[in-house]
Amino acid sequence: MANEKSAVLDRILTLELARVTEAAAVAAARLRGQGDEKAADQVAVDAMRTELNRLPIDGTVVIGEGERDEAPMLFIGEEVGTKQGPKVDIALDPLEGTTICAKNQPNSLAVIALAEGGSLLYAPDVYMDKIAIGPGYPENLIDLDMTVAENLAAVAKAKGCEVNQLTACVLDRARHAKIIEDIRAVGAAILLIGDGDVAGVIHTTDPEETGVDIYFGTGGAPEGVLAAAALRCIGGQMQGRLVLDTPEKAARAKTMGVDDPNKKYSMNEMAKGDVLFAASGVTDGNMLDGVKFGKGEIQTHTVVMRSATGTVREIKARHQDTTKFS
Ligand code: FBP
Repeated sequence: MANEKSAVLDRILTLELARVTEAAAVAAARLRGQGDEKAADQVAVDAMRTELNRLPIDGTVVIGEGERDEAPMLFIGEEVGTKQGPKVDIALDPLEGTTICAKNQPNSLAVIALAEGGSLLYAPDVYMDKIAIGPGYPENLIDLDMTVAENLAAVAKAKGCEVNQLTACVLDRARHAKIIEDIRAVGAAILLIGDGDVAGVIHTTDPEETGVDIYFGTGGAPEGVLAAAALRCIGGQMQGRLVLDTPEKAARAKTMGVDDPNKKYSMNEMAKGDVLFAASGVTDGNMLDGVKFGKGEIQTHTVVMRSATGTVREIKARHQDTTKFS
């Protein structure tokens, strides 16, 4: 995606990606609050796949719904697009936060990232330890190998505030008991989220709006790559380390090109080169509104971004032709 011709295509594709996440978000939103995670995920997958196959790309899903034998659609390795366009890698999550959607709680999203072939980390579906902050900080400020207290102290110093004025976002999981204890021990606040750490990481990019300064914790590796792609576009810092705690997981990761099971990935290693990212709100959230169904129209709220320019566009769309989503 480097020459002039493809640069124009990239610009078009950035906006085209909005159609892809809009379709997935509308499909999932019809099942908000119905308590059926699987059904909501399935309709989002179907809708995203249909739209993806209309794009002028020769795309390969590298982060998807699962491996070929366990996911009927949008599996890792599935080829998508019209094939009349650039070769690209795609990371996607048609419904990020299936439980959030099923419970109609904030911050479930339809998400996609697109990059030149070979630019996204081929992460297996395992956990990843993550740490992230937003833009405007000195480079290499945070580190997975520093303690929680050290990371918070570094961020507070760089921000010019006290540690007890910081808020960390953490997934509400038993495995995070120690992190939560360590954050509270130094007086920082915690925003505990039930699910959805792509949104959690992205929250760090706008502390004034979200109140979140730093993200800590372990969540899905695929979501880690998607979050890294978003941060590449908006700015910020992130590190991730795959949790390969069984020989089977390490072996699976090796087949996907991960030679060092303990490697600490920087944001740029998880999402290299020119990256495009789009997300549409399914349920209302801090960053994006959820889908609104009105009389004869549907409203969607989408953010599209591109790392090469750092442009972040918000698209609030009113769709008159509601049949295109059925
Ligand atoms: P799903 O959309 O697949 O349900 O993922 C939601 C999520 O909260 C992710 O955002 C996060 O990375 C992961 O689950 C955490 O996994 P777990 O629920 O096993 O702690």
